Amino acid sequence: MSEVRFDGKTVIVTGGGGALGSAYCKLFASRGANVVVNDLGGATSGEGASQSAADKVVEDIKAAGGNAVASYDSVTEPENAERIVATAKEAFGGVHILVNNAGILRDKSFVKMSEEDWDLVHKVHLKGAFCMTKAVWETFREQAYGRVVNTASAAGLYGNFGQANYSAAKMGLVGFGQTLAIEGLKYNINSNIIAPIARSRMTEELLPPEVLEKIEPETVAPLVAWLCSEECEESGATFEVGAGKVFFVKLHRGEGYKSAAPDGVATIEELRDNHGKIKDLTKLHAVNSLAESTLAFIE
Ligand SMILES: NC(=O)c1ccc[n+]([C@@H]2O[C@H](COP(=O)([O-])OP(=O)(O)OC[C@H]3O[C@@H](n4cnc5c(N)ncnc54)[C@H](O)[C@@H]3O)[C@@H](O)[C@H]2O)c1
Repeated sequence: MSEVRFDGKTVIVTGGGGALGSAYCKLFASRGANVVVNDLGGATSGEGASQSAADKVVEDIKAAGGNAVASYDSVTEPENAERIVATAKEAFGGVHILVNNAGILRDKSFVKMSEEDWDLVHKVHLKGAFCMTKAVWETFREQAYGRVVNTASAAGLYGNFGQANYSAAKMGLVGFGQTLAIEGLKYNINSNIIAPIARSRMTEELLPPEVLEKIEPETVAPLVAWLCSEECEESGATFEVGAGKVFFVKLHRGEGYKSAAPDGVATIEELRDNHGKIKDLTKLHAVNSLAESTLAFIE
């Protein structure tokens, strides 16, 4: 079996000093990639900063014979993102892969959620991914090569109590990653989305020890590496991943309900009386694009 390698490729992993990020960095480096370990090094809530998170991962990679450089900028500002990309180019002469992984939590029930809790979570996850991707996009287009992985969450896909801010940002990354896949298509830029589950300071207090030991970040890293490899042609796809298991996640819709009324428009009462039919998912239809979605209405 031939090995998937990243020799000559440079990868930026944001939040690379954290649980999942460090597992990605180490796996990429072990397969020959040059790695930029970007991490602000703050608390889970987004407060504070420290260089030690990124430094530790760089040390470990170098000790194992790999190539890595640290970056301590927050992903939330365009000028920082430019600097992170400049770090990659100065240290390794280019950039080919971006893993948008940096993240924080500000969990609170919606009634207690402040504007600051909303803004900060959106700033790190969604604006951070925007700033970083923007900073590599032109280079990826010019070299007709790029790989982007965006980090969503099951909280975004399905919703979760206390995470209105986080789940909105995470679902935003699904839309972001899908649109980048469309715009990147002719430039050989692939963009995919993962919703991981892994042991980290984000999950340590939520899950029992016997579950945590099965969901080490190393069980997520191989999928991220595969999606970023040159031979992987996948783009625009979403995967839930953890504990060594991978699910492909895709929106489907039911048969659709159409009113038989003369003007073709169901009244409120007709909708009430046919709610079960509208929600019937016996026959599932995959929707592959906005065009496919729209066509069903035009027809
Ligand atoms: N652990 C899980 O089960 C799980 C589930 C769903 C999604 N995720 C997502 O996976 C990603 C990684 O999370 P993790 O579980 O490894 O947590 P983690 O806290 O160990 O890692 C997140 C890292 O991001 C860094 N970071 C935060 N803000 C930053 C900023 N502005 N700029 C640069 N770096 C910043 C932090 O310092 C931290 O090292 C996050 O996006 C998270 O939302 C994790």
